[in-house]
Amino acid sequence: MSFSKKCDCLVLSKLKQSGCSAEFLQERLIRWFKLYRRDLPWRRTYNPYHVWISEIMLQQTQMERGVAYFTRWVDRFPDAAAVAAADQREILKYWEGLGYYSRARNLHKAAKVIVDDFGGEVVCDYGILLKLPGIGPYTAAAIASIAGNRDIAVIDANVIRVYARLFDIGSPVKEKKAKDRIASIAREMLPAGKARLFNQAVMELGGLLCTPKLPECSLCPLSDCCLALARGTVGERPVTGKSKKIITVQRVAGIIFHKGSILLMQRGENDVWGGLWDFPGGELELGEGEPEELVADRIFESSRLLVDVVEPITTVVHHYTRYKIILHCFLCLLKGDNRAPVFKSADDYRWVAPYELDSFGFPAGARKVLEYIIQERPELLTSLS
Ligand code: ADE
Repeated sequence: MSFSKKCDCLVLSKLKQSGCSAEFLQERLIRWFKLYRRDLPWRRTYNPYHVWISEIMLQQTQMERGVAYFTRWVDRFPDAAAVAAADQREILKYWEGLGYYSRARNLHKAAKVIVDDFGGEVVCDYGILLKLPGIGPYTAAAIASIAGNRDIAVIDANVIRVYARLFDIGSPVKEKKAKDRIASIAREMLPAGKARLFNQAVMELGGLLCTPKLPECSLCPLSDCCLALARGTVGERPVTGKSKKIITVQRVAGIIFHKGSILLMQRGENDVWGGLWDFPGGELELGEGEPEELVADRIFESSRLLVDVVEPITTVVHHYTRYKIILHCFLCLLKGDNRAPVFKSADDYRWVAPYELDSFGFPAGARKVLEYIIQERPELLTSLS
């Protein structure tokens, strides 16, 4: 192997002096992976469709939850054709709770392309995969290498952490210099013909032992060769930039009843939660006033419906990227008989019976409100029905 950068040559020669050639590291890591890998459903057949779904889901959640979502998904959608044929509402329902719903909408779009252009087969070609909606360099590399065993290195947060420690990279990993260096290390480290095993082995090491907090260096198969361990910098690697400031957003929403039905609005395509269903409401400006006084106004501004606010139900907090969203939810009754809202930014609306609510896909905040009502205030759904 040949490391292109001078610093990597130095690192490599140091590693080599201590017997840590790339071949040695590859062999150790693959042996460790074969012994300790998790028994994951997509690792049983390496079906490219399974690998695709698992990779997209794992970008959203931890392994254990990812496996649960994956199993439920492939039971309902066994192949790309089943995804393509499904209604978007059902796709979003199966994605509910994972967040980043554009990923689910892109999966749906990509499945249609796969059916129309590739006879329903997820092909393991990096260039073709990269052209599909929602598939970027990481996912294309993961599918091509893990399902297709193509010689392409994958780079995700686990891989970055492993190499930043192994090579004791002291520059911020979000910056070009370190990014390029890690990309060249990842390419050089990949053993030809073994990408499926090796790529997963690096990711598995990052997921199981070389973790962000409390790494288990004493169990690591590469510990003899880890420069950060030798230099006492494991806890400082990878170097990340300053974390972004959390922005707090206050929202109000109404569970609006009318003659036993509840109003749901479907968020528009351009919304981050596009396609999902929600309770009408809106945002509060900082210091604007009390949520209880403003909820009826926000409902009117967004839907042109007049409501009476009966009582507060609950306040839930959820996080979305760098936003902390505080959602104050109120029980409301429609004033008069006009059941036809005119929404500023919604694709559709429905008046639904309480028992139908569970079949809709909701953003995390609305889902938390619904769970709260079902657990703590079930009488709300029956008394007004
Ligand atoms: N994280 C994402 N994909 C993974 C995989 N195939 N193995 C281990 N960790 C992963």
